[in-house]
Amino acid sequence: MAIRILVIDDDQTVRSVLETFLQDEGYEVECVSDGQAAVSSYNPESFDIVLLDLVMPGMGGIDVLKEIRSRDSSACVIIVTAHGTIENAVEAMRLGAYDYITKPFRIEDVAAVLRRAAEFKRLRLENQELKRQLKGRFSFDRLIGDSPEMYKVFELIEKVSRSETTVLITGESGTGKEVVAKTIHYNSPREQKPFIPVNCGAIPYELLESELFGHEKGAFTGAVSTRMGRFEIAAGGTLFLDEIAEMSPQLQVKILRVLQEREFERVGGVKTIKADVRIIAATNKALETAIEEKSFREDLYYRLNVINISVPPLRDRVDDIPLLINYFVPIMCAKKKRENLIFSREAMNMLLSYSWPGNVRELENLVERLSVLKEDELVTPEDLPSRFFSGEPPVTPPVVETENGIYLNDLIEDFEKNLILKALRKTNGVKSKAAQYLNINRTTLIEKLKRLKLDEHVASRS
Ligand SMILES: Nc1ncnc2c1ncn2[C@@H]1O[C@H](COP(=O)(O)OP(=O)(O)OP(=O)(O)O)[C@@H](O)[C@H]1O
Ligand SMILES: [Mg+2]
Repeated sequence: MAIRILVIDDDQTVRSVLETFLQDEGYEVECVSDGQAAVSSYNPESFDIVLLDLVMPGMGGIDVLKEIRSRDSSACVIIVTAHGTIENAVEAMRLGAYDYITKPFRIEDVAAVLRRAAEFKRLRLENQELKRQLKGRFSFDRLIGDSPEMYKVFELIEKVSRSETTVLITGESGTGKEVVAKTIHYNSPREQKPFIPVNCGAIPYELLESELFGHEKGAFTGAVSTRMGRFEIAAGGTLFLDEIAEMSPQLQVKILRVLQEREFERVGGVKTIKADVRIIAATNKALETAIEEKSFREDLYYRLNVINISVPPLRDRVDDIPLLINYFVPIMCAKKKRENLIFSREAMNMLLSYSWPGNVRELENLVERLSVLKEDELVTPEDLPSRFFSGEPPVTPPVVETENGIYLNDLIEDFEKNLILKALRKTNGVKSKAAQYLNINRTTLIEKLKRLKLDEHVASRS
């Protein structure tokens, strides 16, 4: 089915240029000259994308945008605005516009933005549908993700939640292993009973044993009264054994026994207690290596690893980065009682190509830091910590394959952009030096900066 586009612009020439071009490109197009008229006949069902002029007599673009978004919160609106009114475009982005194009525009730029928007719209509809199907029974409210990699995780969570199976969650630090464990618990029949986490790495062996199994009065010096351990406290619920690779060999034996026999004794106790807990374990270490090094028992590994959920690192699910930002920004900004941050396209591109060694935790911290330090709302590359510049981000953009194949021109443009940005970073924004580094003429570089819309960004640096 053809993508349907609504063009709202008071300029007759712009309307007819767009109409002819977009129809040639295979879109269905309707043009309206008046904001008020467009709004009153707007129906969320009839259009996929709206191209909206900001400056019009009568009802202005910003009001049209507000009105459309209030009726259709998923409307994909692209702003067309005269060069030099960038503040208005930022305002529009804050109100939920998808992107903006500056006038005078090159028709290829319009085509590129529209392709991205159409792909975005399609993915969003597809994911909404998937999420709706899963959400019928499951709640993933706190586990954000719209990438194919996370959908694999969602599907596994859905499978294991209803069962009692022991689950081993693996993944780098900060990828969200604990969030996954909680999601399993709160979607399981045990949801009304406690979710009890134990950090096996943080507590020394002697303490951890009594922490887990409890102790009888007088079991050791300092055991002045009988105390329940986490296994008993979690009765009916879920026990989350975090950083399992750090557990001492003695304790590994004891945990193995609980997993096999489903019973244990308190430290210094003789009474056998039934362990009515579901066990979820997590680690950011490769247990296979620990087994080879004989620091982790192989038999315990097989008991824990009945089902393995591997949470992918953030750099392998780049699609989730904008989504996570949209999730954390309102939370952090509300906490600081400030207006929401907006990320410029250049800043967002840097976040997309960064390697995120600290994964989602690092991203959450970045948003929090910016919500404290940034005075205005627009985040540009200059606001990002230096690690986003050093450590040579990959200059090759991820090749996104869509239903319609890959978009060679967009990819090449991004590639070119990244190389130019790299040169400018290396030369502190001095254009003549950057041109020298790239082995091109200064004038060629300046032309490219214009064409790739990098000139505003550079102007503020040199
Ligand atoms: N998919 C996600 N959606 C929303 N928040 C997330 C997601 N993944 C992680 N977070 C947040 O990132 C932070 C780190 O997550 P979490 O503690 O679950 O990571 P972890 O894998 O257990 O890390 P570690 O190995 O260091 O213990 C938390 O504040 C968590 O709320
Ligand atoms: Mg953790």
